Amino acid sequence: MAAAGGATGREGWSSKTAFVLAAIGSAVGLGNLWRFPAEAGENGGGAFVLFYIFCVLLIGLPVLLSETLIGRHGQSSPTLSARKLAVESGASPYWEAVAGIGVLAAFLIVSFYCVVGGWVLYYVWQFIADLMNSGVSGGAFKGVEIDTIRAFFPDLLGNAGLMVGLNLVFLAVTGFFVIRGVSGGIEVMAVWLMPVFFVLLVAITIYGAFGGAFGEAMDFLFTFEPEKLTGEVMLAAVGQAFFSLSLGVAGMVTYGSYVGRDVNLAGTSTIIAAADTSVALISGVCIFPIVFAAGLAVDGGPGLMFQTIPVAFQSIPGGTIVGLLFFLMVTVAALTSSVALLEVPTAWAMEKFKASRRTCALSVIIAAGILGTLAALSFNTLADFHPLGFIPLFEGQGMFDVLDGVTAKLFMPIGAILVCILVGWIADARLVDSENGLDGALHIFWRFLVRWACPIVLAAILFVGLTS
Ligand code: PHE
Repeated sequence: MAAAGGATGREGWSSKTAFVLAAIGSAVGLGNLWRFPAEAGENGGGAFVLFYIFCVLLIGLPVLLSETLIGRHGQSSPTLSARKLAVESGASPYWEAVAGIGVLAAFLIVSFYCVVGGWVLYYVWQFIADLMNSGVSGGAFKGVEIDTIRAFFPDLLGNAGLMVGLNLVFLAVTGFFVIRGVSGGIEVMAVWLMPVFFVLLVAITIYGAFGGAFGEAMDFLFTFEPEKLTGEVMLAAVGQAFFSLSLGVAGMVTYGSYVGRDVNLAGTSTIIAAADTSVALISGVCIFPIVFAAGLAVDGGPGLMFQTIPVAFQSIPGGTIVGLLFFLMVTVAALTSSVALLEVPTAWAMEKFKASRRTCALSVIIAAGILGTLAALSFNTLADFHPLGFIPLFEGQGMFDVLDGVTAKLFMPIGAILVCILVGWIADARLVDSENGLDGALHIFWRFLVRWACPIVLAAILFVGLTS
């Protein structure tokens, strides 16, 4: 199949499969492996999980289709694509701000996402070191006190040099693939690494199913107890669905802009959402049997992956090698997502400044490296620096928390609401219809969701996020 952007001479995916794998790579990331189990653990298990699936179907999927549609129609940078759709529909060119917010959000997210990517690299190293010290037999970290294993994490956070170094390594690897381009870098990475990811995920899950407390984990994840479905749990679920599907940051607009006309976007969006949700659920099924088998608490929050899981690998046979494979799998997932994030501001800058991919990517990498360094230092040297301390919502928060909070609470919901307004209300319905690949009742239903349901639910998240 010809490169998607062939007609315009622009870069593009070499096939539909390449696009789908890259988009799945973008969606499947720390959000699935780190955030989803932590959120499910903290929000009561089954009630959260079922509501999450509901949100993916009714809120996430329609917005995913809307974002890829804006990109595919525009065949240009995210902002220019949004502008084209608006102008061709007789609306103001300023609608490009829809994607402008996303570009800024993607830049801010990649800055702290690579810090977390650095933590994952640290654990890969811990398991390699353990493998070299004591081999594969028995559990990981033999003879090491549980408190010492748990302390790996605060020790890492307190080590300024290591935090900054690991962050920059992760960012540099991300940059390597982005500089190589869409079909030469991003796609090659996704096509090779996503299958590796799936094999590792399935292998570790089967291992946990036989060796871990499988029944207990399944009960926890899939027993629906309606009384646990509080407003807070519902909002956590919608927010998680959005983050996990990479929405609200123009990422899917950017990836969509490299897609050819022959691709049915409703079909690909469904595959992407189904794959992302399956991975989230499987990672729950992968992680909780191991946690339960070790008799550990499920509500470890963010520490679940970096404190509970390493301890869990101590008490299971083959823990060193399984632990190493586990953190390698997380590295792959995080990398394919950080590449997607870095590509957004790079694609924007290439079009805005008519400059080469290399120049633009390097400039974004340097800027993200500086911001990421501040984020990495906010756990140690700069713990008392509160960049937005004058705003009550961000009082007392360091750079890492500010970047996370600003993007998750403000930019992502606002970006997604504007996408819905642009596609549902502003854009010419005929233009939209020619891109979305839907017809009949499904089409009417999708339009209803994009015009009404999604913006209203997203406005509720925005409101609660800003007031709580
Ligand atoms: N969806 C990714 C994850 O689950 C994060 C991400 C958000 C990636 C936005 C790209 C754009 O980790």
